[in-house]
Amino acid sequence: MADATVPQIMLNNGVRIPQLGFGVFQIPPEETRDAVATALEVGYRHIDTAQMYRNEQGVGEAVRASGIPRDEIFVTSKLSNAFHDHDAALASFDRSLETLGFDQLDLFLVHWPLPEVGSYVDTWKAMEEIYASGRARAIGVSNFQPHHLRRLHTETTVVPAVNQVEVHPYLTQDELRAFDAEHEIATEAWSPIAQGLVLDDPVIVQIAKDHDRTPAQVVLRWHVQRGEIIFPKSVTRSRVEENFALFDFELEDADVAAISALDRGQRTGADPDTFNWVPES
Ligand SMILES: NC(=O)c1ccc[n+]([C@@H]2O[C@H](COP(=O)([O-])OP(=O)(O)OC[C@H]3O[C@@H](n4cnc5c(N)ncnc54)[C@H](OP(=O)(O)O)[C@@H]3O)[C@@H](O)[C@H]2O)c1
Repeated sequence: MADATVPQIMLNNGVRIPQLGFGVFQIPPEETRDAVATALEVGYRHIDTAQMYRNEQGVGEAVRASGIPRDEIFVTSKLSNAFHDHDAALASFDRSLETLGFDQLDLFLVHWPLPEVGSYVDTWKAMEEIYASGRARAIGVSNFQPHHLRRLHTETTVVPAVNQVEVHPYLTQDELRAFDAEHEIATEAWSPIAQGLVLDDPVIVQIAKDHDRTPAQVVLRWHVQRGEIIFPKSVTRSRVEENFALFDFELEDADVAAISALDRGQRTGADPDTFNWVPES
């Protein structure tokens, strides 16, 4: 399937990102190269990894072995919670490039704000230096609430290109999405199918039957029509293919509204206001 089927979203600095990508959270390091190779074969041209996933090496190997020009694959990584210190952030970015085997990363994110560590403004200043060096085409944040973003706006220069946050039908995040949009920050939706939790919902199952699609396709298409950037994860080839087939059908406005109405403020992951976990390294 051709990559031309995947729309591109223009970020606030003019860089374009494929709206659909492939996430590698919880893929064991030794399986990552094959999983990413499968995604690239199917047609994905956007991979979302992170230092804390410990699988950047497999991502880099698959991208480099694919034969696809490097500038046709958009790769994101994220700063580990262990490296919020300014100098540590700079050094860890260098290590990410080395581990991936790249000269440049497409997007680098601060993974979590870590309110108790309390240094995300200084961390962002390190991100600005990385961006100014040209070795990251765009920089952004993940799991930032409006109050964290307001501090960046007041105390720093570069507006994050994206905010990657948990979004799915049980956590629609409408306020946060509106805040991002007002500030020209693109919203990326992590755990777009809530790791499978929403797939048995009767409303979603019915809409899937009406469109002769799977529940996962309906939920992913709902994100696409709301303008979010998504990167579902799967180590199952048939699902990797299923999750890519989103651009030859459309949900009606009433379907989108019915899925949005399922919101119950339910997180499957951590709450950014209370999550302060820092790994050893
Ligand atoms: N910034 C952050 O803090 C953060 C946090 C979490 C995730 N993320 C990013 O977001 C990406 C996606 O989120 P996620 O991995 O947490 O969850 P997800 O994509 O919502 O769901 C992945 C789970 O759903 C299963 N699955 C995938 N496609 C399916 C389908 N078509 N039908 C049924 N089941 C399906 C997968 O199983 P199999 O693999 O066994 O097929 C896996 O168990 C991550 O990989 C990561 O890149 C970021």
